[in-house]
Amino acid sequence: MPRTIHLALHPYGVGGPGQHGLWKDPRVAKNASIDIGYYIRQAQAAEHALFDALFIVDSQFINATYPAHYLNRLEPLTLLSAVATHTRHIGLVGTASSTYNSPFNLARRFASLDHISGGRAGWNVVTSFDTGTARNFGLDEHLDYTTRYSRALEFVQVARGLWDSYEDDAFPADVERGVFLDPDKLHALDHAGEHFTVAGPLNLSRSPQGQPVIFQAGVSEEGRDLAAQVAEGIYAPGGSLEQAQEYYADIKKRTAAYGRDPDHIKIFIHGGPVVAATDEAARRREREIFEEDNDFDRNLALLGRSFGAYDFSVHDLDAPFPDVAHLAEKGGRTGAAKLIERARAENLTLRQVAESVNEFRRSPFVGDPWTVADTIETWFDAGTFDGINLAFRTEEELSLFVDGVVPILQKRGLFRTEYASDTLRGNLGLPVPANRHTRERRLVNG
Ligand SMILES: Cc1cc2nc3c(=O)[nH]c(=O)nc-3n(C[C@H](O)[C@H](O)[C@H](O)COP(=O)(O)O)c2cc1C
Repeated sequence: MPRTIHLALHPYGVGGPGQHGLWKDPRVAKNASIDIGYYIRQAQAAEHALFDALFIVDSQFINATYPAHYLNRLEPLTLLSAVATHTRHIGLVGTASSTYNSPFNLARRFASLDHISGGRAGWNVVTSFDTGTARNFGLDEHLDYTTRYSRALEFVQVARGLWDSYEDDAFPADVERGVFLDPDKLHALDHAGEHFTVAGPLNLSRSPQGQPVIFQAGVSEEGRDLAAQVAEGIYAPGGSLEQAQEYYADIKKRTAAYGRDPDHIKIFIHGGPVVAATDEAARRREREIFEEDNDFDRNLALLGRSFGAYDFSVHDLDAPFPDVAHLAEKGGRTGAAKLIERARAENLTLRQVAESVNEFRRSPFVGDPWTVADTIETWFDAGTFDGINLAFRTEEELSLFVDGVVPILQKRGLFRTEYASDTLRGNLGLPVPANRHTRERRLVNG
């Protein structure tokens, strides 16, 4: 089977990062981020275009400087449960933090979504970027990286254990024999680990895809290692072609080193295409979008987010970049370390660092439909991604991509012309994990 591209849609309502002024656009409803009708329309449009998934990002901390979408948005699992009832094929991936949840509750909620959607649920495991989240959960401080990621690993292992509580044929529901449940096919977990003690069983059976698909987002060494061990999908930042190649090769290598098939982890890079009638018009539009959003105070606040939502405006803007590395130690360490290194190497002031946070970088996927399709093909062939997680500013921009670029990819045999399956696993080409107890029984019984 030739490799084909996977596509996900990542709706940002009234505007996510880099889209701070989007809410002013007359084509964007002021309540888009909290309007279930908006998400249903986005999901249906993406499903009509045969996308693999609707991908909902999330966080649990804000201050007034955050992007409009973050300030006022729906909780992902609630949102996706509603979308599930208005769609049939598209995968439904929700972001949920392993730092600020408990495994029993979250395993139950994702398994519920998997049932509600007929096997289309995915969980994007994050450990949470915003250190201030701790104070919303009775903690003084965010957990450090090592603890956060070791908790994330155990969290996923516990969830998977709970999802196997029932074997597939646990409910004969045989009226004649009066047998609803076969108790031999129900299994407690009895997990006692470093971070969690969970008895189980979960009070929910397996769904058509056996278990929800595990995604992961986080690029540190610890994040990559977590992905290689447990993820079946990744949401990766992308960056330059070389950076994306390095990341892709590294993840596939790590996954193989854990004894897993590297094809069973699908890497989605972030993409914000700008499609127009001509390359020139698209490039002009890209520049306009950048200028609309290039505001110094906002860039300063954005810089602060990696440092625990730190207010850099208390410092002299024209003095050398202040020594605040410790503030990023637990939150956005990976990105902050790069900024600090550059500030030191180039002797930058705070003002220059804030400006560098939002430098104009030409996006690869900008042009007329053929140029965008060509670039997608080049990047795909160069081993940079298995899929793209696409963000658009408006429903109109989504249509330009769907009507212009998707048919070209289809003609070239790079994208499906019909869904292969009704489950997210089926469409991503991921195996259904066998129930561990059934597998063990089969091994024992030969
Ligand atoms: C592409 C991408 C998307 C992410 N999306 C989210 C998100 O929606 N919510 C969240 O709390 N964290 C998100 N994260 C951050 C992770 O939670 C992670 O904790 C954070 O980036 C710090 O870890 P890292 O250094 O491993 O990246 C995302 C990270 C990446 C790279």
